[in-house]
Amino acid sequence: MCGIVGYIGPQPAAPILLKGLEKLEYRGYDSAGIAVRDLERLSVIKTVGRLQDLRARLEEQGVPQGSLGIGHTRWATHGRPSDINAHPHSDCSGRIAVVHNGIIENYKELREWLVEEGHTFKSETDTETIAHLIERFYEGDLVDAVRKTIKRLEGSFALGVLHFDQPQEIVAARQHSPLVVGLGDGENFLASDIPAVLEHTKKVYIIDDGEVVRLTSDQAEIFDFAGRPVRKEIFEVAWDPVLAEKGGYPHFMLKEIYEQPQAVRDTLQGRLNGGRVVLPDLTLDLAYLRGLRKIFITAAGTAYHAGIVGKYVIEKLARIPVEVDLSSEFRYRNPMLGPDCLTIVISQSGETADTLASLREAKRLGSKVLAITNVVGSSVTRETPEVIYTLAGPEIAVASTKAYTTQLIALYLFALYLAQERQTLSEQQLAEYIAALEQLPQAISATLSCEEAVVGLAQEFKDKEDIFFIGRGLDYAVAMEGSLKLKEISYIHAEAYAAGELKHGTLALIVEGVPVFALITQESLRDKMISNIKEVKARGATVIGVANEGDRFAEEACDQVIFIPRTNEILTPVLAVAPLQLFAYHAALARGCDVDKPRNLAKSVTVE
Ligand code: F6R
Repeated sequence: MCGIVGYIGPQPAAPILLKGLEKLEYRGYDSAGIAVRDLERLSVIKTVGRLQDLRARLEEQGVPQGSLGIGHTRWATHGRPSDINAHPHSDCSGRIAVVHNGIIENYKELREWLVEEGHTFKSETDTETIAHLIERFYEGDLVDAVRKTIKRLEGSFALGVLHFDQPQEIVAARQHSPLVVGLGDGENFLASDIPAVLEHTKKVYIIDDGEVVRLTSDQAEIFDFAGRPVRKEIFEVAWDPVLAEKGGYPHFMLKEIYEQPQAVRDTLQGRLNGGRVVLPDLTLDLAYLRGLRKIFITAAGTAYHAGIVGKYVIEKLARIPVEVDLSSEFRYRNPMLGPDCLTIVISQSGETADTLASLREAKRLGSKVLAITNVVGSSVTRETPEVIYTLAGPEIAVASTKAYTTQLIALYLFALYLAQERQTLSEQQLAEYIAALEQLPQAISATLSCEEAVVGLAQEFKDKEDIFFIGRGLDYAVAMEGSLKLKEISYIHAEAYAAGELKHGTLALIVEGVPVFALITQESLRDKMISNIKEVKARGATVIGVANEGDRFAEEACDQVIFIPRTNEILTPVLAVAPLQLFAYHAALARGCDVDKPRNLAKSVTVE
C-alpha cells in the first residue's frame, strides 16, 4: 500500500529518496514526505498530494543536504490525507523520524497512555504513536528502543526510523508488511519494494517477519525481535524494472488476484475479537440497529455484484429485508426510504458519480448511510460519518479483483455485526462464522492453485463468441461477477444467468460447443444445479463446474471441475470468484488484449 525508502551513504539523500519514491508511485498514494539528517537538524518535509507537490515544497523550504534519510508515500488508513498526517512522523523532541507501512491496531490505547505520560500528538495517525514510543524507550541505543517499541505494537508494520543522535544508522523492522534492504558499495538502501532500489543495486536482503535491521553505510546487521543476530542470504534480483513494479507478475491484475489472501487478512484485521465482530468506527446505536426496517444497497459494476452477495447474507444472518440497486437506477427511482432504513453504498474508489448521487439521495430522503470503500478521504467518506474501509490497498488494474473480495468481507462483517447486535444468531453460530472467516485467506491461496488448469481452459475457449455463467443463490451473484470480468477485459460476449431461469428463454442460445461455467458451491441448491447442468449439456454445452472439494456429483455432471476448499456456504463467493478472475485474465491474455487497461473503461467513473 504505502511506500518506504531509506538511504545511508556518501551522497545527498534527498534526490535518492525522491527517485526511490517515484519508483513506488504506481502503487498509488495520497501524500508524501522525507526526513533527512544533516549536521544541524533532522528536517522533515511532507505534503498531501503528489511527489511534484513534495518537490515544490522542497524548493520553497530548501532541500536538506544530509546523506542519511527516509521517505514515504502514504495511502491513508488512519486519518485523512493531509500534510500533518503524511509521513515521516516525529516525536515531541523532533529528533526522531518514523515511516511506517501497515496498521497498528492498539494505537488508541497506546496513544492514551503516552498522552498521560506527557507526550503531545500532532496527527491523527497510528504511526505517530510509534515515534513517541521510541522517544519513551530511547536510552542511547536506537535498535534497543525500536525493539522495546515493537513489543508494545499489535498489528502489522514495516518501519524505517532515524534519530538525530545516531548519524550513522537507519533502524528498520518488519511484521506482516514487506521490507527489503538494498546493498550498495559504501552505501545502503531501505525500501518496502524492490523497484525502489533497483536503480542502485540488484543485491537485496528480503527482511522477514520478526526482524530488526541496523543499517549503516557499509553494513546491514539483522536481528530477531529478541535481539539475536540473524544470518541472511543475499537475493540477486533478476527482474527488469518494469517487471519489478508488478512484483514479478506480468500484469497488475494478476498481482492483485494473488494479493487477495493478504487483502482479506488486512480487512479482517482488528475486527474480530473474542468471538465477536468489532466495528469501532461505526456510531449506529443499538436502538436504531434493532429498529431497522429495511436496508438498501446501491453500487455500480463489480461493487454492485458484491452488494448482491450482501443482500443474501444480511437477510440470512440478520433477518432484515434488503434491496439492491444499481446506483444509476437508484438515484432516479424514488426509493421508499426513511429514518428507519439504512442505505449502504459500496464503492472501491469512493468517487463513482452515480453512487455518490445515490448517497445524497438516500440522505435527502432521511436514511442513514453506511459507506464501504477502499479510499480514505474519498468523496463518499466526506458525506457520511459511517464508513467501513476495505483494506485492499491501491487497486491499479482497471478490472476490480481484490477490491471485490474485500467488499465481500466488509459485508460479511457488517451482516455478522447486525446479527450480533440484533441477536439473530446464537453465540455459537456467531463463533462458527467468525472461525470460518478467519480461515478464508488460506483457502483463497489454496484456490489460486487452479491457475494452471484455468490457463488450459482459456486456450481452449479463447476464440468462442459467447460464454455463459450460471448459478443459484449466492452462486448467481458470483456468476454475474465472473461474466463481467470476462467481457470487460477479453471482449468475449458473456452472460450470467440464474440457472433456474435458463428455460425461460436463454436455452435458445445454448448450442453445440458453447462453454458454460456452472457454479455449484451452494450445497442446499446442488441438486437443482445438477438438473440445470443436464439441461445445457443436453444441448451440447461444454460445462466447467466450480464446486466444493470432493463433490463427486458435480464431477460426474460436468466436463471439467475446478474445486474450491470447503467453507461455510455463505463464504463461498470469496473463493469461487478466484478461478473466474483467473479465467478472464488468461482469456484476455490469449486474445492479445491490454489486460490492465481495457478499452472504454476507466478506473474511477466520476461522470454520470
Ligand atoms: C469492474 C469495475 C467496475 C467498478 C465500477 C464501480 O471490474 O472495476 O465495474 O466496479 O465502476 O467502481 P467503484 O467501486 O469505484 O464505485
